[in-house]
Amino acid sequence: MSNRTAKSLRVQSLNKSYGIKGGPRIPAVIDFSLDVAPGEFVTLLGPSGCGKTTALRVLAGLEDIDSGEVLLDGRSIARLPPHRRRIGMVFQNYALFPHMSVFENVAYSLRLRRAAEVDVKRDVGDALDVVGLADFSNRLPGQLSGGQQQRVAVARALVMKPDLLLFDEPLSNLDAKLRVQVRSELRRLQRALGTTSLFVTHDQEEAMSLSDRIAVMRAGRVEQIGAPSEIYARPATLFVAGFIGKVNALPGTVVSTNGGRATAECFGHRFDISGAAVTRGDALLLVRPETVLLQPPERTGIAGIVSEIEYLGDRTEYRVRVGETTVAAVRPSLGQEASFTEGARVSLAFAGDSIHLLPAGSV
Ligand SMILES: Nc1ncnc2c1ncn2[C@@H]1O[C@H](COP(=O)(O)OP(=O)(O)O)[C@@H](O)[C@H]1O
Ligand SMILES: [Mg+2]
Repeated sequence: MSNRTAKSLRVQSLNKSYGIKGGPRIPAVIDFSLDVAPGEFVTLLGPSGCGKTTALRVLAGLEDIDSGEVLLDGRSIARLPPHRRRIGMVFQNYALFPHMSVFENVAYSLRLRRAAEVDVKRDVGDALDVVGLADFSNRLPGQLSGGQQQRVAVARALVMKPDLLLFDEPLSNLDAKLRVQVRSELRRLQRALGTTSLFVTHDQEEAMSLSDRIAVMRAGRVEQIGAPSEIYARPATLFVAGFIGKVNALPGTVVSTNGGRATAECFGHRFDISGAAVTRGDALLLVRPETVLLQPPERTGIAGIVSEIEYLGDRTEYRVRVGETTVAAVRPSLGQEASFTEGARVSLAFAGDSIHLLPAGSV
C-alpha cells in the first residue's frame, strides 16, 4: 500500500469560528497557516480547547471555514465535500460501528462508493494486514482490546489510500503502557507507508516522540513550529517553554550582546549565552531543570537551600530557594555521588550553552 507518491499539505490563513445562538461567534482557529512536506509527520500540540480538533475537522471537510485556503499537492480542496478530499481521519473515540465486524467497519467507505466486492476484499485485507489484524476480521469491536480497536480505526483510514492522514488524539483512550507501545507502532507504520500525516495531541511527550515537526497551538493560533529538539531548546515564548516541559524562567539582565552571543547577569553571576537574539536590558533566562547542576555548598556557584524534594523513581526533583526565587533541578535518583536533604545548603551551576534567553515580558 506504500508505493504511492506522498503529497504536500499547505494551509493558508485559515479562520474558523462557531456561531452560538444569541451570542457573538467564538473564534476557534485563527489565522492558521501550516506547510507539511510530502511524507512528513507533523503534530499540533496544545492545551484542551486551543482549536486542534477544529483544525483537523476543517481540513477533513467536516466543518465549513470562514476564510483561508487548503491545498493538497498544490490543488485547493477547501470547497470539496469530505469524501472527495482523499483524507483519512482517525478519531479520538475511534467511532467504530459496534454491530459491524472488523472487516465491515474497514470496508464501510469502500461500500459507500459501491466498490466491486473483489476490490473490497483485497483492499480491506491489505489494510488489516498493515495494522496486523488480518486474523481478527470477523470479530466485533467489543471483542477487541483498546489497542486493537485503535488499529481498526487506523485500517479504516488507510483503506481509501488517502493522500493525508489526520489523527485526533488517537492514543488518549489507552492506558499508559499501551499508549507508548501503540505510539511507536504508529510511527513505524507511518514511516513505512510514507503518508503525509497531521496528528493532534495535548501530550508533549507523545508529540516529541512521534513528530518530524511540532506546531504548538495556543488559543486558536500556532505559536511556534519546529523540530521537537528545536522547540525544546529554543522555545519562542514562555508558554511554549512551559508546555513542552518543565522550565525555570529566571529574571536577569543582558549586559552586552555580540553577534550571536550575549552576556547576562542573574543571581549576581554572569553567563555567556550563545544563539541569543535579545537586546540589552531585562530578560528571562530559561533553564531546564535537568541542566541545573546541584553541588555541595563549598563548590563555586549560586548559593541556595533545598526547600523540597520529590522522589519519582527514575529521577528526583529538587526545589532550591535562591533569595526570593525557587529553582527546580532534577537528577537521576541512582548513581549520584552526593545526596541532598531538605534544608541542606547547596551550590547551583548552569552552563551558558544550555540557557535560552527570552525578552523580559514574554508570556
Ligand atoms: N461545535 C462547536 N460549537 C461551538 N463551539 C465549539 C464547537 N466545537 C468546539 N468549540 C469551541 O472551539 C474551541 C476549540 O475547540 P476544539 O477545536 O475542540 O479544541 P481542542 O481540540 O484543542 O481541545 C473551544 O473554545 C471550544 O469550546
Ligand atoms: Mg480535541
